[in-house]
Amino acid sequence: MPSSKAPTPPPRLFSGMQPTADSLHLGNYLGALAQWVILQDSHQAIYCVVDQHAITVEQDPDVLRRRVRVTAAQFLAAGVDPARSILFVQSHAPEHAQAAWVLQCLTGFGEASRMTQFKDKSQREGAERASVGLFTYPILQAADILLYDAAVVPVGEDQRQHLELTRDLAQRFNARYGQTFVVPEPHIVKATAKILDLQRPDKQMSKSLGGSGCLFLLDDVKASAKKIKSAVTDLGREVVFDPDGKPGVSNLLTILSALSGTSIETLEKRFEGAGYGDLKKEVAAAYTEFAGGFAERTHQWLSDGSTLDDVLADGAVRARAISGERLADVYRKVGFA
Ligand code: TRP
Repeated sequence: MPSSKAPTPPPRLFSGMQPTADSLHLGNYLGALAQWVILQDSHQAIYCVVDQHAITVEQDPDVLRRRVRVTAAQFLAAGVDPARSILFVQSHAPEHAQAAWVLQCLTGFGEASRMTQFKDKSQREGAERASVGLFTYPILQAADILLYDAAVVPVGEDQRQHLELTRDLAQRFNARYGQTFVVPEPHIVKATAKILDLQRPDKQMSKSLGGSGCLFLLDDVKASAKKIKSAVTDLGREVVFDPDGKPGVSNLLTILSALSGTSIETLEKRFEGAGYGDLKKEVAAAYTEFAGGFAERTHQWLSDGSTLDDVLADGAVRARAISGERLADVYRKVGFA
C-alpha cells in the first residue's frame, strides 16, 4: 500500500522561566538557556517568560515589568530565535489562567498539598503568609505545558514533581473527557551542566547564597572576574576533575569546559604542572569574553525597545493561535455552553 510520506513535524517543546532577577546567572545560562538554544534545532520550541508564576510571591510592579523585558532580552541574546521558535510572555496569553482553573478543579487538595516545592517555600514564608497562588503554582505550570501539546519539557531536577503532576492531570482529563492532552515527558537537564556556587561549591550557583559566588551575566565583567579569582579552591595543587574530592576546582573546570567547548580531559592535560591560579586566570578570560558579548547583545535588545516589544507581541499571537484552540476544546469538553 502506498504510504503518503508527509514528513513528521519535530516534537513540540515548552519551557518557562520566571522573571525574578535583573540578570540571569551563569548557572541559569549553562543549565537551562544554552540547552534551550540547542533544542531549537530538533524541536518546535516555545519559550515563555512566566510572569504570572512570579506574582505568587510579592513583586514590585515596576521591577516586575523591567524584569520581564530583561529576561526576554537575555533569551534573545543567548540565541533563542523568534523566527524558528515562539517566545512570549505568559500574561499576554490569558488562556493559561483559564485552563489552569479547569485543571485546578481536577486536582485533589491533598495531591496539591504534597508538592515539596510549595512545602519548602511556604515554610520559608510562613504558612499564613504564603499565597493560594503559590499553592496552585504547579497547576498553572501544567496548563502552560498542556495547552501547547508539548511532548518535551526541559526543566531542572527540582521540577520533576511538577512534571509528574502535569502528566497525572493530562491523563485524568483524557480519561474523563476523551483524548485531549499530550502527556509530556520531562527532559531533566544533566548534572554535567550543574554549575556550583564559587564560594559554596557544595551548593548549586544561586543568587540566594549571598551573591559573592554567583556570576551574574549582566554585571560588570571586572567584578565577575574578581569573583572567579577569589573562588574557593581545594587542598592540594593539581588541576584535576574530582567533584567529590575537589568540588571547587572541578566546578571551575566545568565552567571553562562549557564556555570554551573544550573537553575536561583536554583541559586536565593542558593544566598539568600548572596551578589553581592559572586555571582561574583562564576561566576569568573565557568568562569575560562570553559575558561581555552576552551583555552587549542584551542591552541592544533592551535599547531597541520597539523591536523587543514586536517580538513578544508576535510571539503572543502565535502562542494564542495554539492555546486558544486547545482551550476551546477543553471548554467544550467540560460542558461550558
Ligand atoms: N516552575 C518552573 C521553574 O521554576 C518555571 C515554569 C513555569 C515552567 N511554567 C513552566 C517550566 C512550564 C517548564 C514548563 O523552573
